[in-house]
Amino acid sequence: MIIAQISDTHILARSSEQAEGQRRAENLRQCVADINRQQPDAVVHTGDLVQNGLPQEYEYLREILAPLEAPLYVIPGNRDKRDALRTAFGDYAYLPKNGDFLHYTVEDHPLRLVALDSTATGERKGVYCARRQAWLHDVLSCAPERPTALLIHHPPFDIDDHYIGGYRRPGEAENLAAVVTQHTQVLRLLCGHVHCPTQRSWAGTQAITMASVAVDVRKGIDETQVKDRPIYQLHSMSEKAGLVSQARIVAGYQ
Ligand SMILES: [Fe+2]
Repeated sequence: MIIAQISDTHILARSSEQAEGQRRAENLRQCVADINRQQPDAVVHTGDLVQNGLPQEYEYLREILAPLEAPLYVIPGNRDKRDALRTAFGDYAYLPKNGDFLHYTVEDHPLRLVALDSTATGERKGVYCARRQAWLHDVLSCAPERPTALLIHHPPFDIDDHYIGGYRRPGEAENLAAVVTQHTQVLRLLCGHVHCPTQRSWAGTQAITMASVAVDVRKGIDETQVKDRPIYQLHSMSEKAGLVSQARIVAGYQ
């Protein structure tokens, strides 16, 4: 069982005159081609799919993602607009067609995916309210024996000095930690948002934040070593090795 994780692609519209537009599109194209070579069972995108939440950005994103051979599961980031995302991915059966959140679970694989929507309109920071807490507690309580990866755009901890306090209100990150601590089947927390690769122990599990696929906005990378080469993650689960996560650095944008 292999899951590829991409994040923070920040795709601009095909018609955008911003210099980053084609570069970001190519960063993602290179990842898609490399992911297909790894033949994963699923691909997850941990948010900030596009830059401004515009329909034409999602349209271009879908075009770039079209060659992906494995099923794709997306969660919103603060740059996404929930309704536009829902419309753009309207053919994805796992995404709720209505309601306030884009939460869901994926039960098709040995590693269960639990995706929590931490975004709120107009907020850069994450939101983890009582309704989200109730949903997460319920879905984790349903399957205590199933190895699980929890997907949330906003990490509930600080990343060094460039990212302090991921959630809007005091106590929200602590509430999230309290729920996850109760559910030891959560083997990974997979996050985006900070554009920086980190790993840490958190709430009894292993939390990973990803470098942004968009090379021009990533942080915490020695760009002299991997200049213009996008990075994504592979999470492989086997009986022998358990769950192993590794970064892949792919060919660059010429
Ligand atoms: Fe981002």
